[in-house]
Amino acid sequence: MSIPVVTVGDAEEDLVGGLERLHGPVSVVRRCSELTELLAACQGGLARAAVVAGGSEELAASLVDRLRAVGVAIVALADDPLEVTRLRGMGVLSAAPDVDPAVLAAKISEAVALLSGTGSVTQFRQDSGISDPGASNRIRMDEGADVPPASGTGQIIAVWGPAGSPGRTLVAINIAGELAAEGKSVLLVDADSYGASVAAMLGLLDETAGLAQACRLADQGILDSDALLRIATRVVTKGGTFRVLTGITRADRWTELRAAALSIVLEKSREIADVIVIDAGFCLEADEELSFDTVAPRRNAATLRSLELADTVFAIGAADPVGVPRLVRALSDLEHAVPNASPKVVLNKVRASVVGRSPERQLREAWDRYGPSLRIEAFLPADAGAGDAALLSGALLLEAAPESALRHSIAELVCARVQGKRRSSVFSSTARGRVKD
Ligand SMILES: Nc1ncnc2c1ncn2[C@@H]1O[C@H](COP(=O)(O)OP(=O)(O)OP(=O)(O)O)[C@@H](O)[C@H]1O
Ligand SMILES: [Mg+2]
Repeated sequence: MSIPVVTVGDAEEDLVGGLERLHGPVSVVRRCSELTELLAACQGGLARAAVVAGGSEELAASLVDRLRAVGVAIVALADDPLEVTRLRGMGVLSAAPDVDPAVLAAKISEAVALLSGTGSVTQFRQDSGISDPGASNRIRMDEGADVPPASGTGQIIAVWGPAGSPGRTLVAINIAGELAAEGKSVLLVDADSYGASVAAMLGLLDETAGLAQACRLADQGILDSDALLRIATRVVTKGGTFRVLTGITRADRWTELRAAALSIVLEKSREIADVIVIDAGFCLEADEELSFDTVAPRRNAATLRSLELADTVFAIGAADPVGVPRLVRALSDLEHAVPNASPKVVLNKVRASVVGRSPERQLREAWDRYGPSLRIEAFLPADAGAGDAALLSGALLLEAAPESALRHSIAELVCARVQGKRRSSVFSSTARGRVKD
């Protein structure tokens, strides 16, 4: 079956003629004068592929994602090596501007096949291998071999939990600090698009919204490891040094954290850090279920994409009569929203005054009776003194309350040195896979 194609760009005259003379594999159904017209045509279901024959510099990751969301694969004509690399970073196949029409048609078919075989930007980028300008005049089934594989092996830990301030940020920043103290290279990412607070809790005078900056560069296809390292703020603590991508400074900036760009940022982050710790927002609601506009930015994209890409998800709930039922409901939402997540349940602020004597036993019994089948991974004690001391000084628990049980319980979640032989660290043989209970 002939693939319906839309085109845009100055170079399209010859190109369209060349493709039409092939009489078969592709048919040009519309020539557009600009990218917005091309997007509208694609959203109208007109095409399965788009050829950007000129002005590929205007292609941003979010636009690529919107085209992919409506099932349209993209091939861009470009010969500048920097531009080709940029396109490759966004998972866009490229060909030289003077490419032979038959070769271009084959490239279009390849892009369509890759898209229908995958779907997610990340997967598409990994699977496609994508072209290089010198190779663009011939079809190479092994193109992937030319592209160096991503060297990064960083693991992503997402710290998530329901509304009601169960302690996501406190746990996330202290996990980051404990891992840094263990000698790991750590990047902490504030992806809470409702109430970013990592910078404030670390005592940083930060107005830079590092994550938004990184997403902007990713969207433009120009985020590399050096840029990421430049954007991330260095945090020096008594235990060790780690980096932070700070969060958005106002909740109404959430549109700056789009899923496609965040995927690229997190993928790049794996190259520069052993562990990426994400402070994720609480809300999992998928707004596209409420709206027919499938390409609009999603309010909770940052949270959902973080959880989708995480190797380990800690689900933090407040250990009280309000927090526990909220966590139970949130875990059920998580199962629907991100079915491949296998969260590790952590109850925080555990105290007898709100649960009764032997709070851990009481909570465990209640959980066994009413909770989901997931077991409780850890209990973190309520310790207002330690929490407040850390808040007051914009410090980690290892600095403000190094001997506190709260600090040790958080370290035990992730650090082999504290876990000892009791159970394996998240970095043991299950690395890069989810840590199963
Ligand atoms: N185990 C604990 N003991 C005492 N205080 C705690 C504990 N965990 C968190 N806190 C305190 O509870 C408050 C909320 O914590 P935190 O900001 O980490 O929650 P959150 O889930 O990130 O909330 P938000 O919804 O605002 O993002 C903070 O003042 C923090 O110091
Ligand atoms: Mg928070």
